[in-house]
Amino acid sequence: MKRIFSGMQSTGQLHLGNYLGALRNWVKLQQDYECFYGVMDLHAITVAQDPKKLAQNTREVAAAFYAAGIDPKRCAVYPQSAVPEHTYLNWILNNHTPLGWLNRMTQFKEKASKNKDQEVLGLYAYPVLMAADILIYKATHVPVGEDQKQHLELSRDIAGAFNRHYGVDYFPLPEPQIMGEATRVMSLRDGTKKMSKSDESDYSRINLTDDADAIATKIKKAKTDTLPFPATLDELKTRAEADNLVTIYATLNNEAKEAVVNRFAGKTFSEFKTSLIEVAVANLAPITKRMADYMADPAEIDRMILKSLFRAREVAEKNMKEIKQIVGLWSAD
Ligand code: AMP
Ligand code: TRP
Repeated sequence: MKRIFSGMQSTGQLHLGNYLGALRNWVKLQQDYECFYGVMDLHAITVAQDPKKLAQNTREVAAAFYAAGIDPKRCAVYPQSAVPEHTYLNWILNNHTPLGWLNRMTQFKEKASKNKDQEVLGLYAYPVLMAADILIYKATHVPVGEDQKQHLELSRDIAGAFNRHYGVDYFPLPEPQIMGEATRVMSLRDGTKKMSKSDESDYSRINLTDDADAIATKIKKAKTDTLPFPATLDELKTRAEADNLVTIYATLNNEAKEAVVNRFAGKTFSEFKTSLIEVAVANLAPITKRMADYMADPAEIDRMILKSLFRAREVAEKNMKEIKQIVGLWSAD
């Protein structure tokens, strides 16, 4: 069976971009693939995290996966740090990753401050750990949002470099799955910026924990231009904020953007927004409710994690044994 690995960092609350760009697709894919979905807490600590909150954030991300419809009976859902083979393979892959490849990574350039010498090695090495996350399971497919495309190309390059170096055909080259229209959901305050957990304005994003009132306020305040609602898809493409809102509407409502444009052409943005609020609340409120139910019982989340963690460990341990043999590392058995 084809195998998926994907993950989300436990850096704070998940938002609509995480949901539409990745999580919603993961739910669909679990029917046809063997899935491993990680809560990436080791990636999270590449930027400073509060140790008192990190484990709770990790549980909250797992709760969001379950609440969105990931079935823990079908999929393994677990924190990255609970399967040490991720970091073990990471070290091996470090030795097949030329610095020149890492120097091309745009996410590091964006995240790093101007003074690069002050940045930590973890932030720079981040994409190699990502490659290890995927390759330790020999995953063939990786569903992510558009912003992770470059990292996945690097994962393929690293897999190829390892295979060539040892003269083996061991790691499959993982395929990115960047699905649907909402592959890059933009900030509600600025149509040229990605919706992100780290934006200082909470009005820039819809969090999966927002209640109906918060969703309504944020959509009402969402930036639009002063022109009437676009009449055609071509016109929509030239108007970043409108395009983003229509993309969100169409994706949540499972319809084509063109159908949404045709329905609202000639109407006002405020009519469109009223309808978008309805669609957003109808889709997100049940998820928010289920998340809150899970979070009311964190011990139950831990039990759920433990129930599927063994599957990830089993595969990772088996593959690590084979990898050690390929590399020639000592083993008594
Ligand atoms: P992160 O929260 O950075 O760990 O991202 C988890 C997943 O959500 C990855 O697959 C990202 O590509 C996806 N993602 C994050 N932000 C967005 C966004 N604004 N639009 C679409 N996908 C996103
Ligand atoms: N870097 C990814 C993000 O921020 C999260 C991630 C870590 C991931 N390891 C991964 C995604 C492996 C896919 C596969 O979105």
